[in-house]
Amino acid sequence: MIFAAILAGGIGSRMGGTDTPKQFLTLGDKPVIIHTIEKFVINSKFDKIIVLSPQNFINHTNNLIDEYLGENDRIVVIEGGKTRNDTLLNSINYINENFDIDDDSIIVTHDSVRPFLTHRIIEDNIEAAKKFGACDTVIPATDTIVESIDGEVIENIPVRDNFYQGQTPQSFKINKLSELINSLSEEETNILTDACKIFVLKGEDVYLVKGDITNIKITYPYDLKLANTILKENES
Ligand code: CTP
Repeated sequence: MIFAAILAGGIGSRMGGTDTPKQFLTLGDKPVIIHTIEKFVINSKFDKIIVLSPQNFINHTNNLIDEYLGENDRIVVIEGGKTRNDTLLNSINYINENFDIDDDSIIVTHDSVRPFLTHRIIEDNIEAAKKFGACDTVIPATDTIVESIDGEVIENIPVRDNFYQGQTPQSFKINKLSELINSLSEEETNILTDACKIFVLKGEDVYLVKGDITNIKITYPYDLKLANTILKENES
């Protein structure tokens, strides 16, 4: 089986100035989260699209889905968690409680605030997760990366060609991910904020899927302006 987990459990504190989490703000003619969910709905390979929202926005999310996408029994909205990783865990628990999955079942996890992912990126994630067990979507780093431990002097300037910027989706074989999560010590659980990092720490390969420079994450108010520009460009 193939699942999508759209991570929308955050409050968007870096957007500032609004009580509405950024995934519910308007981009063009509909909320950001609807743009994102649409990208998964049009792909018939997904058996279930799990949207994880803050508890007090679950009704709102359901109402938006009804309004913009109509009734769709492939979509379910459940509660996210305190951290992004907790939100991801909620999706895994939901799958384990409601479906009888096999070792080849995969989950494609995606930030709700990256509305410009493409059909090609989703397809490449599905293929890579099926073939290799885990993958991350990345683009080559464009700025030189400078490492500093104390934030005052440079420790190291690594070779830029070896560095990439992580985007999402990140996709995994679900049973493998569950097995690795269950093997983490309490200390490891606290430092591992990224699911791909869990694979890396446990010595498992994570394959790279080519992302796209337009697959931006809306983090700050400026990003929403940029998103409006990308939207207009895509529509022209
Ligand atoms: N996310 C989530 N559950 C959380 C925290 C984040 O599902 N507990 C989701 C966000 O909703 C977002 C994605 O993870 O779609 C990327 O995270 P980020 O941009 O950091 O979102 P926020 O945590 O909402 O933003 P901020 O850090 O500014 O508060």
